[in-house]
Amino acid sequence: MIVIDKILSTEEVNAYRNVLADAPWADGANTAMGMAASVKNNNQADANNDSVRQLANQLLARIGETPKLVSAALPHKIFPPCFNRYNEAQEYGFHVDAAVMRIPNTAEVIRSDISMTTFLSEPEEYEGGELIISTEFGQQSIKLPAGYAVVYPSSSLHKVNAVTKGQRVAAITWMQSMITDVSMRQNLYQLDQSIQNLIKENKTSRTEMDNLHNVYHNSVSYTHLTLPTTPYV
Ligand code: NI
Repeated sequence: MIVIDKILSTEEVNAYRNVLADAPWADGANTAMGMAASVKNNNQADANNDSVRQLANQLLARIGETPKLVSAALPHKIFPPCFNRYNEAQEYGFHVDAAVMRIPNTAEVIRSDISMTTFLSEPEEYEGGELIISTEFGQQSIKLPAGYAVVYPSSSLHKVNAVTKGQRVAAITWMQSMITDVSMRQNLYQLDQSIQNLIKENKTSRTEMDNLHNVYHNSVSYTHLTLPTTPYV
């Protein structure tokens, strides 16, 4: 579980909020699959609306431009971000995200390895509405400033607590990683973060840095090409 600070600036969040305020919204349960539909009570911005699609594409581009996120997720395919909204008394009960998703209006499917929530409302704007993620260390409660994002394994059980006051707006998306294995993805993330820190410290010789870069890139391509991927179901 990794927090990405300020994937969107305050100005960008405000611009997103303005567009979304005028966008058409529908019942979120329409887009949930299987058992998730029965516990999903929120609204989702119409993904076919031009201005909504434009926001989704902007956020998609930003994901690719955010080094910490790329390092943590090593995305191979990304589902176009969706925007959801919880009004008072709305919630999304415990569920696991669909393992395989069809990208709308295409024949392409992605395996969801990583889920990402980008908060678009400030924590002071609503009560309740925490994202609760079940981890091996117990339940983590997440409520981040607007413009911040959290990524977590799609296979983890999670829910959004009922909003008891105000409104919670967020963007969500899913990624298929080049690295299927969660622990290998974590190792590669740690290795890359250490390399980035060594670059900042600027005390390590060019040759040693080149060697470390080589190890990192070879490990990514080796793992990407050799580990079995979960078959599509
Ligand atoms: Ni979910």
